[in-house]
Amino acid sequence: MKLAGCNTMTLGIFSWVTLEPREGEFNFSWLDRIMDDLARSGIFVILATPTAGKPAWLAQKYPEVLRVTADRRKRLHGLRHNHCYTAPAYRKCVGIINRKLAERYRSHPALLMWHISNEYGGECHCRLCQEAFRTWLRRKYDNNLDNLNRAWWTAFWSHTYTEWEQIESPSPIGESLLHGLTIDWKRFVTDQTIDFLRTELAPLREITPDVPVTTNFMGTYPGLNYWKFVEQLDVISWDSYPCWHSNGDTTGCGHPSDGEGRDWKVAADTAFSHGIMRSLKGGKPFMLMESTPSVSNWHPVHKLKRPGMHRLSSLLAVAHGSDTVQYFQWRKSRGSSEKLHGAVVDHTGSEHTRIFREVARVGSDLRKLDDLVGTTVPAETAIIYDWENRWAIDDAMGPVYKRNKKYEQTCKNHHYPLWTLGIPTDVISMDCDFSSYRLIVAPMLYMIREGVAERLGSFVEQGGVLVCTYWSGIVDQNDLCFLGGFPGPLRKLLGIWAEEIDALYPQERNGLIMEANNDLGITGEYELRDFCEILHAESAHVLARYKGDFYKGEPALTANNYGGGKAYYLAARVEERFLKDFYASLVDGLSLRRALAADLPEGVTAQLRSDGHRSYIFLLNFTQSPQVVDLGGRKYVEMLSGSKLGGRIDLEPFDVKVLS
Ligand code: GAL
Ligand code: ZN
Repeated sequence: MKLAGCNTMTLGIFSWVTLEPREGEFNFSWLDRIMDDLARSGIFVILATPTAGKPAWLAQKYPEVLRVTADRRKRLHGLRHNHCYTAPAYRKCVGIINRKLAERYRSHPALLMWHISNEYGGECHCRLCQEAFRTWLRRKYDNNLDNLNRAWWTAFWSHTYTEWEQIESPSPIGESLLHGLTIDWKRFVTDQTIDFLRTELAPLREITPDVPVTTNFMGTYPGLNYWKFVEQLDVISWDSYPCWHSNGDTTGCGHPSDGEGRDWKVAADTAFSHGIMRSLKGGKPFMLMESTPSVSNWHPVHKLKRPGMHRLSSLLAVAHGSDTVQYFQWRKSRGSSEKLHGAVVDHTGSEHTRIFREVARVGSDLRKLDDLVGTTVPAETAIIYDWENRWAIDDAMGPVYKRNKKYEQTCKNHHYPLWTLGIPTDVISMDCDFSSYRLIVAPMLYMIREGVAERLGSFVEQGGVLVCTYWSGIVDQNDLCFLGGFPGPLRKLLGIWAEEIDALYPQERNGLIMEANNDLGITGEYELRDFCEILHAESAHVLARYKGDFYKGEPALTANNYGGGKAYYLAARVEERFLKDFYASLVDGLSLRRALAADLPEGVTAQLRSDGHRSYIFLLNFTQSPQVVDLGGRKYVEMLSGSKLGGRIDLEPFDVKVLS
């Protein structure tokens, strides 16, 4: 560990049966030994509660802890992340083991932080969860079934509930099309998971009030609204496994970039998730809790990280606000499903491997970046990526039947040009405070919760620039359509009425033609696909029009002056080239601060961290070729090498430089 420059280890995840081999019988001697060894070596421990993988004895004795799937099948014991969050027996056993851990290690010199469970996720449809759901609903709807029936629009298909007990969670063998039910169920799953998290935290907060806690998130994982977890946690952390070197074939991969697997696209998409993690606590640095030193074992193809890519990928996280780089896993498991997953120490058992050397290099790099700890990314721009909005979009039947409407990818597509320009950008929910931003991008803001339109309105009134797109302002927080014309409560702010939306077959295209002398200074034509909305410009002026079809000549891009600011509306899904030109023009117009005011070659980006006084510029080359960047007249210290740099500098393939 010392050779690798690793000063912190996460311990104890999934170790429940080793800690408690039989109910009430505890064995901490092995953990004592490791904790003591690490402390003696000056290495800190992030100690995990073991609750993400349960012992067989627990499932055998308390079958209620086993999950029930949406189709109402009770699962057998097996795998991990598979317990019922509601079951009192599980909560009781969790309370006991967590208390034991806290009592035993409360003043251990190695204990740095708590790692709660692992990657919370999934849902349970058991009888206990159904009861908890109904209790949750009673609370939400003031114990009044009429309120619920109205919010869910249940009279449709004669679905009106006449007793609370009739309500069941969504199921493929039952109700799956009642949108109000589905969205409330998803909200409940988040709340119930947090309720379980609170059970986990209770003994830790009581016994170790000064030890910070985190739980490892999964980026844009759709199952849980991470914003709701924030107040329970002291630090945000997440597990990042980008699919590097996928060269366009990202089938089945977690991070598809619109079919383009070029590494800088993968990097931008990863940066989007880093942006969420940093924004969750208002810019406070986060932790990269897991990354693989080499390959994962669940991507479609496990290409080795090319020399330098591990370092580049690690420092990408730091560039976007991570204060740590950690690994899954230290040493390869000898057996079972992760025996071929990357690790710092391979089965060969020594430090004489390429991977180990790459890890050691990152370790020594990080030592030189101590000044960055605690600094943040000074964002004047934010993109709204909202979990509830995503749930509602995914559920909606239309304008394309059951086809992925690509909400997440659309947000990433709007983020990409800003990232390539080196514009510090937060990724926020629609409930966040907008007042620190100058540009807000809200792609496909389909759901508008109460108060959001008003807050966006005052943001623009006070001089902000807002970008909205097709399919916005369609439903309220209950997933009920706004009456009186779309985009509902945004109509006045955007100065348009969106009367209809046309869906295109995958191979169909339309075009967008820029108006002459428009205020963006953009000329020419761009390709459209998927969605074209037909608008009436009310107070807005038209910047571009449709090229073809029966709505040829109708507005496709508008801008509305509103108070001191401006609200743009992009009525159709448009190619990347347009988004690049569009955001370059907005960035110029607003004079937004860029990490580095230089023309960067494709695949090279610059990112910024700052404490308000000192700034640190990360130059990252995601191409496999050497690149040249012109730093201009200014002189910088390159922190990783200690050298002074200015003028035209060379970047090696997959190189990274940190300029102070
Ligand atoms: C993570 C998980 C780890 C390990 C890793 C493999 O999602 O937390 O335990 O399974 O994936 O990539
Ligand atoms: Zn359950």
